[in-house]
Amino acid sequence: MTNPGEPDTPEATTSPLAWHHLPDAVRVAVIDACGAVRHAKPHPGGNLIFLRTDAEQRVCLKAARVGSEAGLTVRREQWARTLHDDLPAPALVLAEAIDDWYVTVLRQISGYYARLHPGSSNLEPVLASLARLGPRLTASSVPNDAVLAEADLGRVVDGAWTILDNHALHLGREERALLEQALHGFEMDAATGTTLLNGNLDPRNILLSPAGVHLLDWGRAGYGAAWLDAVPFGLHLIHDGHHPGQTETLLADAFASWRAAPHKVVTGLIAAWTAEHILRATRHPQQDAAVLAPAGLLWLRHRTRPT
Ligand SMILES: Nc1ncnc2c1ncn2[C@@H]1O[C@H](COP(=O)(O)OP(=O)(O)OP(=O)(O)O)[C@@H](O)[C@H]1O
Ligand SMILES: [Mg+2]
Repeated sequence: MTNPGEPDTPEATTSPLAWHHLPDAVRVAVIDACGAVRHAKPHPGGNLIFLRTDAEQRVCLKAARVGSEAGLTVRREQWARTLHDDLPAPALVLAEAIDDWYVTVLRQISGYYARLHPGSSNLEPVLASLARLGPRLTASSVPNDAVLAEADLGRVVDGAWTILDNHALHLGREERALLEQALHGFEMDAATGTTLLNGNLDPRNILLSPAGVHLLDWGRAGYGAAWLDAVPFGLHLIHDGHHPGQTETLLADAFASWRAAPHKVVTGLIAAWTAEHILRATRHPQQDAAVLAPAGLLWLRHRTRPT
């Protein structure tokens, strides 16, 4: 079984992190935790390195400077992982701030990315894992120092309005009207909640191995309404070939609160994510993330069709 992170990674957005460029104190802490490093392979995405050590351990090192945007993401993943030490996620070996760097080491999972197309045998275990997760991550109240999903949502929704104001984007009149009308339905109050969300439920953050389903990448975790993760996840299901109606049935299996989520608010959030993907498709047509815009439009047409 190959590690999906090594041969098949998305395009780089920043220069990759190099093991030998890390401060001594960071490398010493990693070696203390895992053994001498025999081989280090950077992930093209930026702040992650796959390490093989003398102790025959395979681990993933995430590191970024305190105060940088990447640092915030590494810190946020540390926060979520230490808040809930029983997440279905790669085991945490180290989560510290060392010499102005946030440093996380995770055991490397030998597995493959979840395949979510209709008929895939991965669907059932992935949906079941998500269904078990929601109630476990729902608290009676949000901790005082909690990161809230609202800030990210606000950025996506505000960004969507800015995108729609940009008349240079190649959007048909029907598409623009569809997005605008849907976006008007979004209300932040209805998106708040006490469930810890992954914030980045993408098949590239879901690995399957003989041990089960592993959710990676908690760097955008935050508290919000329990159904919030269903929207970006649903876009992937539609992109992978599910009809929007069927997608909603699958989402109802995985997210207990999906059916109760306010229709207009969900539609508004789908529109916001769709606008974001339209912009990405314009700016980076080669990147994977750009391909979700048609799925979003399909979903919106389904939800706003006359009944
Ligand atoms: N513990 C792990 N075991 C195996 N592969 C991993 C592990 N952690 C990360 N990866 C691989 O590295 C990729 C990037 O990891 P992750 O999503 O956690 O980091 P990221 O910094 O958010 O990167 P990206 O921006 O690419 O999502 C994953 O899609 C996966 O292929
Ligand atoms: Mg990721």
